[in-house]
Amino acid sequence: MVADAAYLLVQSMSESSWLDNYNWLQPIGEGGMGSVYLAEDKRNGNAPCVIKQIKYEYKDLASQAEMIKVCQREADLLRKLNHRGIVKFLDDHYSVEGLYVVMEYIPGSNLEGVMNKEGPLDSETVVRIGLQCCDVLEYLHSAEPPIIYRDLKPSNLMLRPDGLVVFIDFGIARDFEPKGPATRVVTSGYSPPEQYFGKPEPRGDLYSLGATMHHLLTGVRPKPLTPCRPASLNSGVMPQLDALIFQLTAHDKDERPPSARAVQYELFQIYQIMHPDFEIPDLGIEDEIEEVTRERREDLLAEARLRTMRNPRGSSNREKRRTDREDDEIDDTESGGVAGLFARFKEWVDNITGRR
Ligand SMILES: Nc1ncnc2c1ncn2[C@@H]1O[C@H](COP(=O)(O)OP(=O)(O)OP(=O)(O)O)[C@@H](O)[C@H]1O
Ligand SMILES: [Mg+2]
Repeated sequence: MVADAAYLLVQSMSESSWLDNYNWLQPIGEGGMGSVYLAEDKRNGNAPCVIKQIKYEYKDLASQAEMIKVCQREADLLRKLNHRGIVKFLDDHYSVEGLYVVMEYIPGSNLEGVMNKEGPLDSETVVRIGLQCCDVLEYLHSAEPPIIYRDLKPSNLMLRPDGLVVFIDFGIARDFEPKGPATRVVTSGYSPPEQYFGKPEPRGDLYSLGATMHHLLTGVRPKPLTPCRPASLNSGVMPQLDALIFQLTAHDKDERPPSARAVQYELFQIYQIMHPDFEIPDLGIEDEIEEVTRERREDLLAEARLRTMRNPRGSSNREKRRTDREDDEIDDTESGGVAGLFARFKEWVDNITGRR
């Protein structure tokens, strides 16, 4: 305890010099735990960065010191992560005032902001976003021990101008509850039932992914603890996507798909129905796909090919305008709106194939 108090004292003395490492530009977000600022790193040629300040609510020194330990453990873990879909951590600092986490600045907008500006997104855009989320989740879930993200929702995902999706908020310090189960983090609508009882597991992230996709497709926040049926609110949602989201948000985790990789495979199949010429990259799970699923997919694909032959621009009416635009703009970085934001999607898919 004495050592912890001394540690805090030294930290607070070095506070102002640490803050001086940065030009603090402007606040860009306000969350439940603190504030997020855009800044420049003076030690790195004024490179833009983002500093998240988390203020301590615990008055006594013992709780603060314990919270610092929890945060440090989590920061150490995050420092080791290396994935293009995860924000890079640059620095952290602890003091009596609070905790600071410095990370790379991700240009673009978070998906909640995108939705507020553009309205609900079309099936194709949501599939592309979902595919990228699965890649990050698979990476996290395959870590030893598995890392469970626990807070997947539109405001925690940045959409960069080139269409790449980046997870930004690793809820540092969030899973700290003095004397309570350290894993209880709940965001109404996105959290799976099991998270309410403090038992997170990888398939909980799949539930949140389903709830997030539902929100993106409909513009309507998912109802807490209720399986999502986006097609009931937006008739333009592809039936296969609706069915997958329903399965993802199943109350019982055993009824959800088994892994993020399996969801990614399903999403690639849906993408292939939209673009019959698209080749699904080898995800290494082909052998696990049951024969019935394979046959169903072949039927759907044959149907999609027929449709494309009859009507090269064929898609449901509701989504037609946007899909038309996207067909033309898939490789055009300059085009406006979300539909034009996927210039690097093909490169992203190629990269998946290259990694295996
Ligand atoms: N690295 C970053 N690059 C660009 N913008 C960021 C970055 N980190 C955070 N932001 C912006 O700040 C907002 C809030 O950040 P974050 O989600 O980390 O904080 P929060 O306190 O958890 O907020 P909330 O409770 O709303 O999730 C994000 O939605 C995003 O718009
Ligand atoms: Mg957040």
